[in-house]
Amino acid sequence: MIATARLSQEYTNSYLPAKIHGDFAGKHIVTVDQFARADLQVLFDSAHDLRDRVRIGDPTVRDLCAGKVMATLFYEASTRTDMSFQAAMQRLGGDTIATSGGVQFSSVYKGENLADTIRAVGCYADIIVLRHPEVGSSYEAAYYLDRLGERLGRQPVVVSGGDGIGEHPTQALLDLFTIVDFKGDVNHLHVAMVGDLRNGRTVHSLAKLIAQYEAYHTSLYFVSPPTLSLPESIVNSLRARGFTVYETDNLQEILGICDVIYWTRIQQERFADPAEYAAIADDFIMTPTLLAQAKSDAILMHPLPRRHEMGTPADHDILDADPRSIYFRQMENGMFVRMALVSKVLGE
Ligand code: NCD
Repeated sequence: MIATARLSQEYTNSYLPAKIHGDFAGKHIVTVDQFARADLQVLFDSAHDLRDRVRIGDPTVRDLCAGKVMATLFYEASTRTDMSFQAAMQRLGGDTIATSGGVQFSSVYKGENLADTIRAVGCYADIIVLRHPEVGSSYEAAYYLDRLGERLGRQPVVVSGGDGIGEHPTQALLDLFTIVDFKGDVNHLHVAMVGDLRNGRTVHSLAKLIAQYEAYHTSLYFVSPPTLSLPESIVNSLRARGFTVYETDNLQEILGICDVIYWTRIQQERFADPAEYAAIADDFIMTPTLLAQAKSDAILMHPLPRRHEMGTPADHDILDADPRSIYFRQMENGMFVRMALVSKVLGE
């Protein structure tokens, strides 16, 4: 057999995604590095506006993407990312398509590679939301969609819905929007991110995006077991940009001063060795007793899904009733931020 494997990760070096620079139209969205503060402001203003318009039932929202088609191509499990993108597109008046029965019944099952599948989907859709287990898969998709665009004379775009343990840019957009929504800004905040910081792509993107937002006097606390710490490259780039970064495995040290507590799931599916997972699985569990030690105006966020890292189902009920727990608002904001992004990328 001929060896054909090519690593998606190689494309993170060879493919440079276009910066937004005030113009979203026709751009692939694969990393938070594409966004400057001014772009985030434009996006957040639009998300606010769309949220207001959806709430009052403004029928003209449906004109924004009328006639456009979104494909959702998910090689990994998803509820929120998949459905919020679909809901966003439908509320914008566009249509959504996906392989009937999920990606396992697509030609992927026959051994088709990503480069070919993405171009097939690009022939039918204007925008493709891709979730894939390989780091760099969205860069690879962008590269091949550019090649396809040259042939078709129209440019289908890809939006990353998460590339393995790499990035989850649209989650970071909705997370940052939610922080600004509740706290008014990101300046002068103590922000803690807790859990599996090595494998958690939402944390990778959010930490980078806070830096892109040029937040000042913001302290970042990364709390994890030592084996699951944030990749060094991200820590270094934050420090290089002047951020106070504090890494610890002792939550008690900082819990009482945090304004934003971003809790995450241990990404069990990313562990090759079950014993390694078992050794740290119970290290950080948010419970009502723990939340009682947080500031009265702190916000507790979580990208969800959650498992035992938020305690038992009975704990969930108590945590959910606490006004500081804002993860369902965070979730709803995801749809509005994705509406703003999709309409801008499709050239509204
Ligand atoms: C996250 C993800 O898929 O990275 N979920 C999400 O998109 N809201 C977080 C997780 O799976 O733990």
